[in-house]
Amino acid sequence: MIEDASPLPLHESDGTTPAPVVAAQVRAELARAAPAWQPEFPDAIGFTMFDSPSSEDGTVTVLLPQEAIERAPSQALVRIRSRDGRSYLGAVVAGPFAEPDGMRADSPLLIMTVTQGGIFTPPHHGRVQVELLGEEQDGVLVPPRLRPLPQSPVWTLSAAESARVLRLGGEIQLGTVVGQEQLTVGVPALRKDVLPRHLAILGTTGGGKSTTVARLVAEAQRAGFAVILLDVEGEYTFLHEPTADPRMCRALAQRGLAPTGVPNVTLYHLVNRDTANPDHPQRCAFALQFARLSPYATVELLELTEPQSQRFFQAYDLGKQLLREFGIFPAPNDPRQEQLALEVDEFERGYPRLELLFFTDLVGACLAVANKLDESWRPRHPRLKPENARKRVLELVQALKPSHPNSWGALLGRLNLLHRLKAFDQPDGAPMSYKRLLRAGHVSVIDLSDTGSPVLSNLVIADVLHGVQEAREEEYTAFERQRRQDGPTGAPPPVLIIIEEAHEFLSRERAAQMEVLFQQVTRIARRGRKRWLGLVFVTQLPQHLPPQLFGLVNSYILHKITDPRVADDLRRTVSGIDPALWQRLPTLAPGQAIVAFPHLARPLLAAIDPTPAQLRLID
Ligand SMILES: Nc1ncnc2c1ncn2[C@@H]1O[C@H](COP(=O)(O)OP(=O)(O)OP(=O)(O)O)[C@@H](O)[C@H]1O
Ligand SMILES: [Mg+2]
Repeated sequence: MIEDASPLPLHESDGTTPAPVVAAQVRAELARAAPAWQPEFPDAIGFTMFDSPSSEDGTVTVLLPQEAIERAPSQALVRIRSRDGRSYLGAVVAGPFAEPDGMRADSPLLIMTVTQGGIFTPPHHGRVQVELLGEEQDGVLVPPRLRPLPQSPVWTLSAAESARVLRLGGEIQLGTVVGQEQLTVGVPALRKDVLPRHLAILGTTGGGKSTTVARLVAEAQRAGFAVILLDVEGEYTFLHEPTADPRMCRALAQRGLAPTGVPNVTLYHLVNRDTANPDHPQRCAFALQFARLSPYATVELLELTEPQSQRFFQAYDLGKQLLREFGIFPAPNDPRQEQLALEVDEFERGYPRLELLFFTDLVGACLAVANKLDESWRPRHPRLKPENARKRVLELVQALKPSHPNSWGALLGRLNLLHRLKAFDQPDGAPMSYKRLLRAGHVSVIDLSDTGSPVLSNLVIADVLHGVQEAREEEYTAFERQRRQDGPTGAPPPVLIIIEEAHEFLSRERAAQMEVLFQQVTRIARRGRKRWLGLVFVTQLPQHLPPQLFGLVNSYILHKITDPRVADDLRRTVSGIDPALWQRLPTLAPGQAIVAFPHLARPLLAAIDPTPAQLRLID
């Protein structure tokens, strides 16, 4: 808008004045007029561009003067006041790009001058692509019906307003928004639709998953959670110590944080198996109880063939019969135990008091009889050693007429392998107290680094999941009873169960053979929503997780993923992430992640805060 204060018609010469003089007069007049020129929107960072045939719905191009480029970093939120009076909010999803003024960026002239060091290059402006988040109407964001008109002014939102629009708030602090370090990404600790609807942390090796987990553990603990960490590789066995990793210390210092250990950590490991940190101040060995494992889940986890699993259940029934005959369970004249024996749901747990060695002995007896070597059978369980017990077992087994010694032999081999690990029913290792794992502000690291077999690790994971769920149900039943009797009372603390290397526990390849186990996990996930129990699945191989698992998860932290097929699969699963963000997935730096949570207005690229606690390095 140039105010026309010119005394002379600028374009006319009176015929006597030479042309150069007229030009000088024009320049002088323009210079005189310039101070009167005021931009219409002095604080706008840029203006929307006209649309072109390549324009797409939902996004607009915004052009910025050179000096405003850095005010519109990637992911910045902007407000567009359309010239028709409407107001829109949007996010920068591509750019800022620097384009030359008045020339095409690929013009030969420009290419030549830039290659020569750029002495005569033109000034430039910025261009960003803005995705429209919605139209503002009376303070609420509604889906836009139209688009901003060209040349509408654009402003960036302040940090406080951006945080409000993006709904970044939450007690559990994950990190900052990449490009806008003043914005902190938090996860609300107590919203039922966030953590209890389960989270997946995915990314290539070295992407930063464990660092994110360590961060999440410390933050969830601070927010009063009970945290249970199924640590397959023993990475978290030094979590109680401050980090000594120089890179991590530098990264912490940049964020103004200091290295500190996580307080209140107990390290659990299986009895007779090692731990990655034998000097841990709070170490606790525990034994598995065969009787607690659902025989159906066990058959799946042992990867038994159909004939082997048939034999497994034959021997299992025999075991139940003998426990009853021997008065071990139910005890004679004990109506309560009688009732319990009737009520056992073997899809959930095993038959009470049935020990692995007892069961293995029975399978051994079946093999001996199938081989017609009945008398060679030598039981190892003290309860079966007495001659009358041995005779009785053989009698019952002979009545079963077991055949197919090969599959009995294979089954016995599997069970002996498990037995030799000395982790079941051990007198020197107390059974796990699941209730203890549920204490507020406690972190329980279950070190599975020395289980010697993925099968045993998986049995522990299945057992802990089920045990925790059962303890949780009891806790809630008591809480609800108390609430009915005494009125409002504090709810049990929220729980987070983190499963590292989740693809080894629930694998896509074995999904068809793991129906019972998957149903158990599904049940825990569903009950967890009501009982405030959140599951976190961590893996570098998301393509190996059964696809149904993603149906149980509604939040994601996606670190770098290089395999385009994996990224494509995830794209179909995780909604709401704009294409420009997906494109960045293969090149994310360690610690950067796309975070997609239901409480956030949109998925964001975040720099996860470094962990102040020590992680054990795995080669
Ligand atoms: N949030 C972060 N801030 C700074 N550096 C990080 C961050 N996350 C990861 N790193 C760097 O990347 C390295 C690897 O991270 P981390 O061990 O967490 O990856 P990972 O995904 O768990 O790898 P793996 O699959 O091998 O277990 C760390 O040692 C650290 O140097
Ligand atoms: Mg890791």
